[in-house]
Amino acid sequence: MAGLEPYLRQPWRMVHGVPMVNAFALNWERIDNFQSRPEDIVVVTFPKSGTTWVTEIVDMILQGGNPEKCKRDIISNRVPMLEFAAQGDMPAGTDLLANMPSPRVVKTHLPAHILPKSFWENRCKMIYVGRNAKDVAVSFYHFDLMNKFEPDPGTWAQYLEEFMAGRVAYGSWYDHVKEYWKRRKDHPILYLFYEDLKEDLRREVAKVAQFLGQELSEAALDAVTRHTSFEAMRDNPTTNYSMVPSQFMDHSISPFMRKGTTGDWKNHFTVAQSERFDQDYAQKMLGTDLHFRTQI
Ligand code: PPS
Repeated sequence: MAGLEPYLRQPWRMVHGVPMVNAFALNWERIDNFQSRPEDIVVVTFPKSGTTWVTEIVDMILQGGNPEKCKRDIISNRVPMLEFAAQGDMPAGTDLLANMPSPRVVKTHLPAHILPKSFWENRCKMIYVGRNAKDVAVSFYHFDLMNKFEPDPGTWAQYLEEFMAGRVAYGSWYDHVKEYWKRRKDHPILYLFYEDLKEDLRREVAKVAQFLGQELSEAALDAVTRHTSFEAMRDNPTTNYSMVPSQFMDHSISPFMRKGTTGDWKNHFTVAQSERFDQDYAQKMLGTDLHFRTQI
């Protein structure tokens, strides 16, 4: 893990107009020129929307519902993050993916317009996970406090302004969720919602299995559901990121598996912040039929 210090707490670098984690933004040609395989499965989200949750569900489904097979490695090796890169000893996502057998499961947060063209050309299946913006902002703020690859988020009030302006990693939440929502009309995209997963995990697991063309027994679907509950994933060292050295992710500041609920925003937004956010939200989401639930 040597040599990473210069990349910690650095400001964004812009990539095709999108603010990008400093360490990821170097040598971006590796992303633009990335070659997909038709059988790749892409799990794509705006950060903090349930990525880890759904990648674990997908791997569990591909492993026939066997949790022991999913413990073969940490989630970031089983499902590499496409754009991840650091100059130290940690392998880049593109290198991990190059050496993986198919079907590969690819994690990414890239907005649709900068996702490598090859995924669109090969019509790779994509699973998009959306989560309501208020809970995303709260989760992202706590993540930026503990994850040193991100710039220091400042106070919650400051951070909320940055979030609304799209000055956070991967840019505008609003554009991100809307772009994939639009593209699902002519590309195989299963669009999931964090709130639906919270409401009925087994129903959503079955939906994912069907989308992937995997026929699982009732017992296997039960096993996936049990293994991917918040408590199970929080206590599982292969999914809770506890294996990342604390100089990069400091779980004593805020654990990666923080609360796993819908509606935590109510504990952080003031009434004034909530009203201002709602007003701005209505403008930015004008004209779309995409709707999120801020409580269930
Ligand atoms: S990342 O860093 O962008 O990949 O983060 P991501 O995995 O998308 O989001 C992390 C949030 O998802 C919560 N989480 C879960 N919630 C419910 N059930 C399960 N199984 C689960 N796994 C992860 C995690 O706790 C983060 O949300 P917050 O609100 O911060 O707790």
